[in-house]
Amino acid sequence: MYSSKIAGIGHYVPKNIYTNNDLSRFMETSDEWIQERTGIKERRFADRFAETTTTMGIEAAKIAIERAGITEQDIDFIIFATLSPDYYFPGCGVLLQREMKMKEVGALDIRNQCSGFVYALSVADQFIKTGMYKNILVVGSEKHSFAMDFQTRSRNVSVIFGDGAGAVVLQRADQEGQGILSTHLHSDGADAEILAMHYPGAHANKWLPDNPPFPDQELGGLFLTHEQLDSGAALPYMDGPAVFKKAVVKFPEVINEALAKNGFTAKDIDLLVPHQANLRISQYVQQLLGLPDDKVFNNIQKYGNTTAASVPLALSEAWEAGKVKQGDLVCLAAFGSGFTWASALIRW
Ligand code: ACO
Repeated sequence: MYSSKIAGIGHYVPKNIYTNNDLSRFMETSDEWIQERTGIKERRFADRFAETTTTMGIEAAKIAIERAGITEQDIDFIIFATLSPDYYFPGCGVLLQREMKMKEVGALDIRNQCSGFVYALSVADQFIKTGMYKNILVVGSEKHSFAMDFQTRSRNVSVIFGDGAGAVVLQRADQEGQGILSTHLHSDGADAEILAMHYPGAHANKWLPDNPPFPDQELGGLFLTHEQLDSGAALPYMDGPAVFKKAVVKFPEVINEALAKNGFTAKDIDLLVPHQANLRISQYVQQLLGLPDDKVFNNIQKYGNTTAASVPLALSEAWEAGKVKQGDLVCLAAFGSGFTWASALIRW
């Protein structure tokens, strides 16, 4: 059986910076409120027209491919993780394939929200282990700004999320014990609606049963009335405290699972790169694991929560800052809507 390693990594963030004070121009909020609860100081928002989830993913992918020392033509499979695709369908993977003029290789979109990238990495790892592919492009990219409500009614959600992208080339490794040591994937759908966006989805009509869009119509169709759209039916919903409670249990659990599987403990970790959900969640997890500050990488302060992009964006910045060196034990961990959670342990 083969093993896989990250041969190249890159990220891209849009130029437009929106500070917490900038957001307070649109809604009733404050720098103090946002920083105290989330650690976020600013986030990037993509250009409304020129940039999409795919174009940002492409920019990150170009850097990852160049750093891997290969070309677009060497990529033999594409996995694209996002919850904010350019189109409801088809997925961003095929759009990236087209724009990067790649061969007619397979493209797969992963819809696993904040854990999307770690899930994508795990899928790529399996394809390489079996010998099916040699160079898989794994992308996490999000353009949240297109679906946020920048008004006071949704302020608990819209102050958290930002736009950006990260990508890696996962490549067949030459040596045993190098690269991805193991990945661990979990889900529990019991709380699926705690952090969710219902529209456009086949369940969207049922979501507002007292006010169906066209009550006398036999087939519902996927419509919302202007009133329902206006009421927030097409916006993300989050029960923040419930997410917090679950995240601080599942993050350490899935990290410890990866460590135990490989005969390590938390003190063996050289760098933990958690999904950038909320700085308070990362700090709580760090404390539970007894890790010093220099062993946990956070950049949510600058970018907000970029869901499927957050892990590769943070890993790429950590790598560029020299915080990931050859031989290091790196742990990636994520938790998000679903709920889904996942980890990957890597010998760099
Ligand atoms: N600015 C000012 N006031 C606000 C804002 C805001 N942006 N958002 C909400 N408020 C107000 C509310 O109106 C409410 O006021 P009220 O008491 O007068 O009614 C009060 O603050 C509390 O509102 P909550 O929605 O209960 O906000 P909460 O205190 O729970 O904080 C937060 C929200 C920061 C999201 C918190 O729940 C949290 O840290 N949750 C953890 C989950 C998380 O961070 N998820 C990130 C994305 S999910 C993921 O990646 C896994």
